[in-house]
Amino acid sequence: MATKGKTIVLGITGSISAYKAADLAARFTKDGFRVDAVFTESAMKFASPMTLRNLTGRPVVTTMWELSTEFSVEHVALSEAADVVLVAPASANIIARLANGIADDMLTCTVLATKAPVIIAPAMNDNMWANQVTQDNVAKLKKRGFIFVGPAYGRLASGKMGLGRLTELDEIYGVTLQVLGKKGDLAGKNIVVTAGGTQEPVDPVRCLTNRSSGKMGYAIAEAARNRGAAVTLVSGPTSVTKPAGVKVVDVKTAEEMLKAVLDATKKADALIMAAAVADFRPARASGSKIKRRELGDLTLKLEKTPDILEQARGNFIRVGFAAESDNVIANAVDKVKRKGLDLIVANNITEKGSGFGTDTNRVTIIDSKGKAEELPIMSKYEVADKLLDRISSLLKKK
Ligand code: C5P
Repeated sequence: MATKGKTIVLGITGSISAYKAADLAARFTKDGFRVDAVFTESAMKFASPMTLRNLTGRPVVTTMWELSTEFSVEHVALSEAADVVLVAPASANIIARLANGIADDMLTCTVLATKAPVIIAPAMNDNMWANQVTQDNVAKLKKRGFIFVGPAYGRLASGKMGLGRLTELDEIYGVTLQVLGKKGDLAGKNIVVTAGGTQEPVDPVRCLTNRSSGKMGYAIAEAARNRGAAVTLVSGPTSVTKPAGVKVVDVKTAEEMLKAVLDATKKADALIMAAAVADFRPARASGSKIKRRELGDLTLKLEKTPDILEQARGNFIRVGFAAESDNVIANAVDKVKRKGLDLIVANNITEKGSGFGTDTNRVTIIDSKGKAEELPIMSKYEVADKLLDRISSLLKKK
């Protein structure tokens, strides 16, 4: 992840969800970001600066008037250091102050002075959010380029349900990485990724599927987003969280995936087929549930599914995956040539820490001439980045 050395200024304001900012800070710090937390006066009633200090390993700013803090010498130093300013949670009050250019504490001064992108994750009572004055402030800030993420609908501090809850941390995290990666090496590129297994119906209850978790394809989609690409993720059914800032097209069958891929690749620069597409499907799906007591043995007639990679052709880079249990490299080299691919990613699904369901993978990337680059075991996100390095250099040559 191109995060090392980047600075996130995390503004925390007075909301009951302020404690969640600690989780965000911990995640960003773990990823290698420098996180500088700035508390407003009321935020300190809800969350502890000490927690943030320990989680980020950085000084935390709680006032403009403290002589011993690192930033008090020049109160705009933070605004210059920021690669992004994220206000999470953002109260109605901070939104109003920012919309009107008020600069009476460290957070408002920082936002007013910064040239970095500003992301706002609102959290407040639903009536406060719906109030026209808040909506006018939000519109004003959006017009000035502020990026809003959330709020979400859900249970509020008052106990009632409504729109005003701090949105999922995964979404705030994803949008922040997307904003930071806007000028990455894949900026302006359209990348289509497929992920997960397909489900081929036998009857309304049963289907033929496989053990693909979707983790590899989702990691590629996130990594491409974080490098500036516009990503379309064509996904079979999975339990992986949908990445923020990515266009997700949900499909079930190989036939649906084919249609979605053909549509999405009309203006694509690259197609990465990480999905485990079923190779066979029942020739005829029963319209009603097949009953056990009415049958002796059951024989299903299977037919081939369309080969999506074979059909998806055009002026874009085509990348396949070869999940194999034997003769991994030989099979992959054969496949890359047979399908006319630019790259194929081969892995042995029987190897420990590799293949379906795991968070790690051990792959070999093979190019169109059959030249192989063997990678050590690493996280699926790191594999995704390595693959995107190769795609990025192929795109530069195009
Ligand atoms: O030949 P094999 O099925 O092993 O090829 C795997 C590659 O082909 C993967 O990238 C997979 O997504 C893709 N594929 C496809 N359509 C199918 C089956 C596999 O595009 N029906």
